Amino acid sequence: MLVAIGSDHGGFRLKEEIKSLLTEANIEFQDFGTYSAEAVDYPDIAKKVCDVVVSGEYTRGILICGTGIGISIAANKVKGIRAALCHDVFSAQMTREHNDTNVLTMGERVIGPGLARMIVSTWLNTEFLGGRHAKRVEKISALEI
Ligand code: RB5
Repeated sequence: MLVAIGSDHGGFRLKEEIKSLLTEANIEFQDFGTYSAEAVDYPDIAKKVCDVVVSGEYTRGILICGTGIGISIAANKVKGIRAALCHDVFSAQMTREHNDTNVLTMGERVIGPGLARMIVSTWLNTEFLGGRHAKRVEKISALEI
């Protein structure tokens, strides 16, 4: 498991918190920015993280902005990315089991660090169920063409 993580300024502090979680869990990661609270554009960060997930260099991506919405919209424009905005543990589990999401997005201004940690742990540790869900994920990919 190799995780690419990124945020805009609105998600910078939560990104630092999630980096601590990944370190504690011995999960290898690379921080694709932003590296301060100075304003940046979230689509630029989404592209950096999504490109390395699609290329296969990184297994999964985690993206954070203020709401989690903008960076999720941007990520889902990248071919091959299935990004899910999760602010609860149930969604984090289900989106791995049913949607095989390769990017998780969250909003720092929406949830606290404790819940965010639980969401990330659940999302990283849940496997895709395949079966009937695989056909549906293939149909999502077919919409990209
Ligand atoms: C930045 O102010 C904010 O718009 C961004 O972090 C995000 O919430 C956009 O969806």
